[in-house]
Amino acid sequence: MSLKEELQQRFSSLCDIQEEITTSLKANAEDYDFKFTSFQAAKFQGEVLNMKQENNRVADELQRGLDLVTTLQLDVEKALAKLNEQFGLSNSKRKKTPSFYLVLAQTATLASEMEDQPDDDAPVLSSHALAALNEFIAEQQTHSDGRDSEVALVSEDWRLSQFWYSAETARTVAQEVLTLCDGALSRVACIACPTLYAYLKNMDPTVSAQLLEYDKRFEQYGSDFTFYDYNHPEELPSELKHSYKVVVADPPYLSEECLEKVAETISFLLQPGESFLLLLTGEVQKERAAEILGLHPCGFRPQHTSKLGNEFRLFSNYDPGTRLGGWDK
Ligand SMILES: C[S@@+](CC[C@H](N)C(=O)[O-])C[C@H]1O[C@@H](n2cnc3c(N)ncnc32)[C@H](O)[C@@H]1O
Repeated sequence: MSLKEELQQRFSSLCDIQEEITTSLKANAEDYDFKFTSFQAAKFQGEVLNMKQENNRVADELQRGLDLVTTLQLDVEKALAKLNEQFGLSNSKRKKTPSFYLVLAQTATLASEMEDQPDDDAPVLSSHALAALNEFIAEQQTHSDGRDSEVALVSEDWRLSQFWYSAETARTVAQEVLTLCDGALSRVACIACPTLYAYLKNMDPTVSAQLLEYDKRFEQYGSDFTFYDYNHPEELPSELKHSYKVVVADPPYLSEECLEKVAETISFLLQPGESFLLLLTGEVQKERAAEILGLHPCGFRPQHTSKLGNEFRLFSNYDPGTRLGGWDK
């Protein structure tokens, strides 16, 4: 039963009690056996009246709170629809973005802090909730300025071992890749890391990047998408062979077999001469990454939108200097 229904029932039961007292008072006013004196009965009736008023006041407050939360929910839906429109998000339900959490937190804060409102004032946002709201609005404005917009991705499919990078990780790795590219001739291959591809394109639409991915939802990237199954490491179009100066890989599994097969693909893709390889994978692959691909870990720790059980590392075949938190060699 909802709180509202309960309040309604309490109210009607109080009405009944009040009615009974009134009837009893009239019928028994002169009766010696009557248990209440007129004074006691009137006092009791007054109490009931107070309780009824209190009930009404709580019901009004609840209604005002409900109205506010409903308005807030509508605003959030409108904001999400706008973000969808602006950034082409393909699935708004997946949006566990900080802003979404912020709105949830903000709604929760509002609900809890409404208890602190003065009795006869309409509920207003507390300074804490207001700060959260302002942060949310500022974040949206940043997005609409296009300066630091979040990149559109499909929802994670855990059956495909999909764990998307946090925005900060995606931006850091994309920035490193752009630093390694020296002009339009540098081509980048992203093996099983669609977030990186999306951020690269977002940060520099002119970059030449190819996404090799198993998940066909990324066919949305047109000719930049190449279907890739690590079980068939070299079943790839011939024009991709030895064509990439920068290769970044994030294999779906933490097994030796998967890393060995992805390593075959990497050799297939890398251009002769100077080339750069970045591998994002679990810390547990450290020895194998050194053995199979000659890679060493960087200080930078990749993060994901969901918390993972495994510690992740970024390995490289070159010394990034002071970038990426240095090189552990
Ligand atoms: C650990 S995730 C890496 C994603 C990366 N963190 C990102 O945000 O872009 C592994 C990727 O491997 C892809 N994948 C799953 N099965 C695969 C397969 N058989 N062959 C190649 N890639 C596969 C998944 O679709 C997913 O994008």
